[in-house]
Amino acid sequence: MSILKITGGRSLSGSLRVQGAKNSALPLLASSVLTEGLSVFRNCPRLTDVEATVRILRHVGCRVYEEGDVLYVDASGPILPEVPDEMMRQMRSSVIFLGALLSRCGEACLSLPGGCELGPRPVDLHVMALRALGAEITEAGGRLCCRCPRLKGGHIALPTPSVGATENAMLAAVRAEGSTVITGAAREPEILDLQDHLRACGALVAGAGSGVIRIRGTKKLRGGEKRIMPDRIAAATYLAACAAAGGRVRLYDACPRDMDPVLQALRRMGCRIETGENLIVLERRGTLRSPGPIITRPHPGFPTDAQPPLMAASLKAEGTTVMIETIFESRYRHVPALQSMGADIRTAGKTAVIRGVEKLHGASVRASDLRGGAALAVAALSAEGETLLGGMEHVLRGYEDMAGALTALGGEARLLEDGIVRGKDPRPGYGRDAEDG
Ligand code: EPZ
Repeated sequence: MSILKITGGRSLSGSLRVQGAKNSALPLLASSVLTEGLSVFRNCPRLTDVEATVRILRHVGCRVYEEGDVLYVDASGPILPEVPDEMMRQMRSSVIFLGALLSRCGEACLSLPGGCELGPRPVDLHVMALRALGAEITEAGGRLCCRCPRLKGGHIALPTPSVGATENAMLAAVRAEGSTVITGAAREPEILDLQDHLRACGALVAGAGSGVIRIRGTKKLRGGEKRIMPDRIAAATYLAACAAAGGRVRLYDACPRDMDPVLQALRRMGCRIETGENLIVLERRGTLRSPGPIITRPHPGFPTDAQPPLMAASLKAEGTTVMIETIFESRYRHVPALQSMGADIRTAGKTAVIRGVEKLHGASVRASDLRGGAALAVAALSAEGETLLGGMEHVLRGYEDMAGALTALGGEARLLEDGIVRGKDPRPGYGRDAEDG
């Protein structure tokens, strides 16, 4: 268990390299199961969700080697078509293995990803997509078992642009017999990243980002090489931190073209933003204003994952901010903790109304989900005094070394584990008992 100790009340100033995208790394790593060779993934973020995915890859029979931020995945050996319950419980997005395992092995069995802190996580669209390619799917005792010796191409019409279902459909279709069209597909940048990699592996796929994805199945796929795209949500989080605390931050290895709705909201708040090819500079010196209404939508709309950090940045903004969360049912679980820091927020169903306050104060709070935890860290930076943020195991799923990142941006943050303070310069032997020497 770990706690992030943040001392707020000072403006930020610093530079940070944006980590590789968690929501691209996971499907990319799952895709390596489809190949009969070695895949290389560069710019891989150091996250517990990536570690969980690597454990699954190794369990099904891949050999995975790590060298800095590079992961080498060799899937040339025999592959096991099932993911054990305890691995599925660790990370609900492991359902992304369904399409790849079914395509490689002709069968796949994994437990249903239970409801999580964001509300129920149905997989009906994943099931519909795989059935459209000829899979027989049964559900018993909370496990989903799929069989189909050879998937056949078909038309997959997604009624809602589910990111995971789109990715599962792509992974199942690229080695199916014949052609597949996915309509109503998600258009997130991570889908484009997956398409790029699948092409590098020899797949015939086009249309990612347009909502209509066309695939012509190929019998085999070779290993490919991919540099994982920057994490637009991590970038949004650190920009929100600077909007909240004030100051000037520079994010490099960023991808501003994937972040338009977030950058527009921050500009409406009074932030000055300059962008380059892979650079975002945000400065907020004067008044912080409400961004106005924020409604989360599938890409290219305002991303649901950026809603909690932007809510935190709005807490001391002049005016009233209305947020409507249209993607997940319970994505306001961070609100009570923000209220304990002095925020004025009222929620009703999908709507949250934030009235700007003069001051926030530090508190002992606990993250209950990944982006909610990030919101608490953003609020802590603009609060007077010290905040102890527990439940960091949620945050470390998606943010690489958040303490180090906030420190690089000029914040005061330290990760406390078992009462040991791990900072930038642990002293030799630090944290061990004296007699250890
Ligand atoms: C991906 O989740 C991301 N996770 C989420 O990020 C992100 O919030 C979400 O897409 C939306 O952008 C990863 O990529 C690992 P969905 P996913 O399927 O694929 C409903 C984070 O914080 N739905 O697009 O699970 C679902 O209930 C995480 O990094 C069905 O009804 O999201 C939700 O209301 C959180 N049936 C909506 O679609 C299904 O079969 C969007 O879900 C699947 C989804």
